[in-house]
Amino acid sequence: MERTLTILKPDCVRKQLIGAVIDKIERAGFRIVAMKKTKLTTEAAGAFYAVHRERPFYGELVEFMSSGPCVPMILEKENAVEDFRKLIGATDPAEAEEGTVRKLYADSKGENIVHGSDSDENAQIESSFFFSTEEAVNVNN
Ligand code: CMP
Repeated sequence: MERTLTILKPDCVRKQLIGAVIDKIERAGFRIVAMKKTKLTTEAAGAFYAVHRERPFYGELVEFMSSGPCVPMILEKENAVEDFRKLIGATDPAEAEEGTVRKLYADSKGENIVHGSDSDENAQIESSFFFSTEEAVNVNN
């Protein structure tokens, strides 16, 4: 079993799509190991996306990610990282495949509904950004 970290971003929460996106995630066979609703400060959003610090869109990304509540989750499934990225589609919704979460619901590259870890290593780092070891224990499902 593998894990990945997702964030239902502030646009997902504002559009009242939390349930719709979780439905797609569960139907695709992912188990929710940990989940919370929280609001990132600009400092926390900046730290989470620190790898993108030098990118031209960094300021916009940090502002957006701290603009309202979001829902981080740890998900579990075989091949979780890769399968989740397939489920959500390309970063730019205009390039995302039909039926993917971003194709269905996202407005732009910046406001693209969900985040998904890009590697097992980053999944681990990102999961511990939001959840303690105890919160990430998968009890009996
Ligand atoms: P995410 O998977 O959360 O990881 C980095 C984020 O940067 C990405 O999703 C996009 O939301 C955002 N991003 C990438 N490219 C751009 C861009 N050109 N303009 C604005 N935001 C971007």
